[in-house]
Amino acid sequence: MKILLLGSGGREHAFAWKIRQSPFCEQLFIAPGNAGTASLGVNVPINPNDFEAIGKFVQDKVVDMVVVGPEEPLVNGIYDYFKNTPALEQVRVIGPSKTGAQLEGSKAFAKRFMMERDIPTAAYAEFTSEQLEEGLDYIEQQSPPVVLKADGLAAGKGVLICQSVEEAKTEFRAMLAGKFGQASSRVVVEEFLDGIEFSVFVITDGNKYKRLPIAKDYKRVGEGDTGLNTGGMGAISPVLFVDDQLKAKVENWIISPTITGLQELGAPYKGFLFFGLIKVGNAPYVIEYNCRMGDPETEVVFPRLENDIVELMMALDDGKLGEIEIKNDPRAAATVILVSGGYPGPYENGKIISGLDEVEGSIVFHAGTKLEDGQVTTNGGRVIALTSYGEDFQKAVALSLKNAEKVQYEGKYYRQDIGFDL
Ligand code: AMP
Ligand code: GLY
Repeated sequence: MKILLLGSGGREHAFAWKIRQSPFCEQLFIAPGNAGTASLGVNVPINPNDFEAIGKFVQDKVVDMVVVGPEEPLVNGIYDYFKNTPALEQVRVIGPSKTGAQLEGSKAFAKRFMMERDIPTAAYAEFTSEQLEEGLDYIEQQSPPVVLKADGLAAGKGVLICQSVEEAKTEFRAMLAGKFGQASSRVVVEEFLDGIEFSVFVITDGNKYKRLPIAKDYKRVGEGDTGLNTGGMGAISPVLFVDDQLKAKVENWIISPTITGLQELGAPYKGFLFFGLIKVGNAPYVIEYNCRMGDPETEVVFPRLENDIVELMMALDDGKLGEIEIKNDPRAAATVILVSGGYPGPYENGKIISGLDEVEGSIVFHAGTKLEDGQVTTNGGRVIALTSYGEDFQKAVALSLKNAEKVQYEGKYYRQDIGFDL
């Protein structure tokens, strides 16, 4: 089968790597891809949000399956675009419908969805600019830290954890006044949950689901989880504090009612669903839903998944997920992300990367790279993900760190303490 993968990050390189291992994949296109995906398939310069251009490419090349990596095309309705276009409706699209993707596209939608189904999540209230005074009163009644969330997609920047009520009120006003554009025209004010986070992934057809390996990512730029939030500085899998008891709670309290909720919505959901969870005491709570795989979690989840990913995605589309048994590699996996100097603030692209050939024993996933005149250069905040296996995550991290020294570019930075809190 011919497959088109949308996206250009480390997650998509990991998808491409996994898809290429499948005998079902005859040809792989990646739009737009990066220097890493170019070695696994054909990169095509199409923006994943340009549905007409994607549709035309799919028709021209007779593509059988479109795998959507990032959230934006999903929230913008790429699934619906395909299913409502007669010439494209037969194409398998891996990803939820626009309504299903609202679980990520609108924090308020997700909160209402959870509240209606008693899915454990932080207490909250939502406000628009017409409800400014009400919102300020609500914030007054909270004990800090107070969590403010832009309702819509804000490129991972829309969540603020305010250490005082005063700060929360100032930020709340700024958000409603357009701090994150249209995305913060509605703001969710949420109780702060104190615990340890982990990421759970399922592949689902909206009816049956299969859980993939559990992971934990490290979002802060600085060692010891300090400094600004990033797209993710590293990840590990498995997560040993998620024991059988906690897994059972996650299944019974969170995954299962979420899947039932999707059925009640009546919105097609044939794709990946990512539960951003936090363990408070012995109970799991949902911090957020994402309608896609995680980045950098995919760079450890897929290396540990032994199943053929294309077979899984075909089963998903054929309603046969129930027939598949998920098999995980018993080894631990860890990924360490090499980023551009300055990230997540301003940084420069176009730095020549060397030493990739010297990496030994780790998998190199490109996150933000580009091929320029035969040279691999930096092209993003997160540049390279180095994934390693190990008997335990400490050994895996150590191997990635050893290889991180060999990769060179101006301004290279990475965290050396991935897994430090476990
Ligand atoms: P998000 O953009 O929804 O992934 O949120 C970014 C990060 O903010 C999460 O990964 C958490 O670390 C943190 N966060 C979000 N909501 C809460 C909450 N209610 N309590 C504590 N931390 C939170
Ligand atoms: N690693 C978190 C995310 O992909 O949103």
